[in-house]
Amino acid sequence: MKPLEPGTLFGDRYEILEAVGDGGMGQVYRAVQLPLGQEVAIKLLGTAATADLEERFEREAHATARLDHPGCVRIVDFGRAAERQFIAMELLRGPTLAEVLLETGALAIAQATHITRDLLGAIAHAHGRGVLHRDVKPANVMLVERGAVLIDFGLATLRDDAHLTQAGACVGSPSYIAPERLRGEPADERADVYSVGVILYEMLGGMRPFIGSSSREIMESALARPPRPLRVLRPEIGAALEAVVARALAKDPARRYVSAAAMLGALEVALAERALPGAAASSTSSASGSTMLQLVFTEPSRWARLWTWLRYGTWRWRAHRA
Ligand SMILES: Nc1ncnc2c1ncn2[C@@H]1O[C@H](COP(=O)(O)OP(=O)(O)OP(=O)(O)O)[C@@H](O)[C@H]1O
Ligand SMILES: [Mg+2]
Repeated sequence: MKPLEPGTLFGDRYEILEAVGDGGMGQVYRAVQLPLGQEVAIKLLGTAATADLEERFEREAHATARLDHPGCVRIVDFGRAAERQFIAMELLRGPTLAEVLLETGALAIAQATHITRDLLGAIAHAHGRGVLHRDVKPANVMLVERGAVLIDFGLATLRDDAHLTQAGACVGSPSYIAPERLRGEPADERADVYSVGVILYEMLGGMRPFIGSSSREIMESALARPPRPLRVLRPEIGAALEAVVARALAKDPARRYVSAAAMLGALEVALAERALPGAAASSTSSASGSTMLQLVFTEPSRWARLWTWLRYGTWRWRAHRA
């Protein structure tokens, strides 16, 4: 679908400024909401969208509207204009976690755990409001000044729509999907907990727990193989933190944390037990030094966004320690 030109007036009140994302569902633009002039992000479904896609998009809007938490993107409007459905949301200024992981590889332990706490808080809130996200992955987490924010409730189900949990059980990204969903079994809150476990493993270990050269291989690995122990990849990770990740990644949901809130509690305990070594802080600024240097020269604007986040992350870590 042809992208909208900057300056286009969409739906009488949104002046398009630039494209900021192109996902599976549609395009996302930075826009000005008239007449007050606030900047928003507006996600547009294509004109040729099927009834199924429209229904899913509407569900995304309703799921997002149920939420009121700093870790969940806020929706400001939903409707149809120029034969396209749209969702207008608060504009999040920062990179996605996927972009950051691509640039830096593993993160400092303090940053990885901060992001995980933010995410678990957001997911616990969503679960409390009857919303299962079902597509928790680094590309759906944005890192902004106030912390990590979960976006894209495009695959979410609402508690009252229980029949939808089974339908489309295997949509999502194979690396982050819980084994029970890969097997086509009904899934609950613990499937989102599993996805957070994969993300935490990836942030700490610099690689995903289950890898392969095709979706099929990744799924087979997730279903049958144990992940490489995290402390083999990164010895300074304590046993308590490693155990939290392992439990979140349990193949049997009955062996996993029963909820995001339970995992958050266990993470807090593991962090309290762990004497934070100075190395965790210094690795913030030294992580992948050459990659960052390359970024400064080749992509100054992305570098600036990443730097803002890294600086902010260090600050939060210090504030937490004090
Ligand atoms: N509120 C927002 N503020 C700023 N950028 C956003 C916002 N929401 C989404 N984006 C950008 O647009 C991209 C796509 O958004 P989103 O994940 O919601 O769409 P999608 O079509 O469902 O994507 P996919 O199917 O690929 O996961 C995001 O990765 C992000 O870069
Ligand atoms: Mg997405």
